[in-house]
Amino acid sequence: MTRYRLAVIPGDGIGREVVPEGLRVLRAAGKRYGFALETAEFAWGCAYYLEHGAMMEAGGLAALRDFDAIYLGAVGDPRVPDHVSLWGLLLRIRKAFDQYANVRPIRLLEGIPGPLAGRRPEDVDILFVRENTEGEYSGLGGRLNPGTPHEVALQTTVFTRRSTERILRFAFDQARLRRKELAHVTKSNAMQYTAVMWDEVAEDVARDYPDVQVRKLHVDAAAYQMVLHPEWFDVMVGSNLFADILTDLGAALQGSLGLAASANLDPTRAAPSMFEPVHGSAPDIAGRGMANPLAAIWTASLLLEHLGEGEAAAAVFAALQSVVRAGEIRTPDLGGRSTTAEVGRAVAEAVAAR
Ligand code: NAI
Ligand code: MG
Repeated sequence: MTRYRLAVIPGDGIGREVVPEGLRVLRAAGKRYGFALETAEFAWGCAYYLEHGAMMEAGGLAALRDFDAIYLGAVGDPRVPDHVSLWGLLLRIRKAFDQYANVRPIRLLEGIPGPLAGRRPEDVDILFVRENTEGEYSGLGGRLNPGTPHEVALQTTVFTRRSTERILRFAFDQARLRRKELAHVTKSNAMQYTAVMWDEVAEDVARDYPDVQVRKLHVDAAAYQMVLHPEWFDVMVGSNLFADILTDLGAALQGSLGLAASANLDPTRAAPSMFEPVHGSAPDIAGRGMANPLAAIWTASLLLEHLGEGEAAAAVFAALQSVVRAGEIRTPDLGGRSTTAEVGRAVAEAVAAR
């Protein structure tokens, strides 16, 4: 039997509530499709920070390196500044393991009305690819004369040709697996250095993919067209910040952040990839058993796909789609009254029954 070693970081808030449901579904899939999961839990996050002054233990990155994948809930706590929690854990892992492709499927599920009148599942089916290591989130910058009237804050955007090219190639490759349409998101009217280079690299790479239809959109126009014409889009690709924002818009098109899944991939497989829902720790609903675990469960399906368990991955997605379609077992964000665990159990049972 194939054995996979999974590092589990539930994190904070609803991360700790949705991760167990994802694991429940993963175990059901293993039982049904013949693989075993060996999990190791790492209690890192804001609670750890408040006790130890760091978001993860020293040497934590080395401890993660030998796992087949990392499964993470969410980080964030009102008692810790968000930039401290984000940079101390999530961004550290993404950068250290060069998880340069952040992949986020945006699909309107059957049975979810969605916020756009008259739109059906076939109209909203986008694979968003986000550059995950540099750009606006390079982390380069500083503050001068803090707290004084002369204060200066610099946050430097870094685009390297290497990272721009590899994310565009990754996106073109994804387009080839789908409808062969790629929309790349830019802002080369206002950003005459970084975004103009992005456009040039996109044109260069496109020459190697003559079978893929390319559309170029400024980020503001992309936000507009995703709402008015989601059916225009197949694969979309953008920089770290642009895609961060547009994928929350995408989650809204799906009807809830509680449905938005995400994978941080190192496509070279030199280091483990990390799988986490798009949403955060949701302190406003944490601890009440009402978080939607479907984003974490959908994320588990992406994890299985990455491990090469394609059949199990498809089964998990089909199971969550069937529970949503039936409509009886839903958390409050989708208009229902079920608990996090009830939804998790329903999906796990649907996987076992396949
Ligand atoms: P959030 O995603 O935690 O919540 C936004 C809204 O969506 C809230 O009203 C929340 O109740 C709702 N929501 C989110 N996930 C849900 C789910 N699974 N089921 C039902 N409703 C759900 O974003 P927010 O409020 O901006 O940030 C809260 C904390 O999370 C902050 O500390 C922030 O830094 C952190 N954060 C962490 C992320 C991560 O770990 N990847 C991503 C985004 C935010
Ligand atoms: Mg985000």
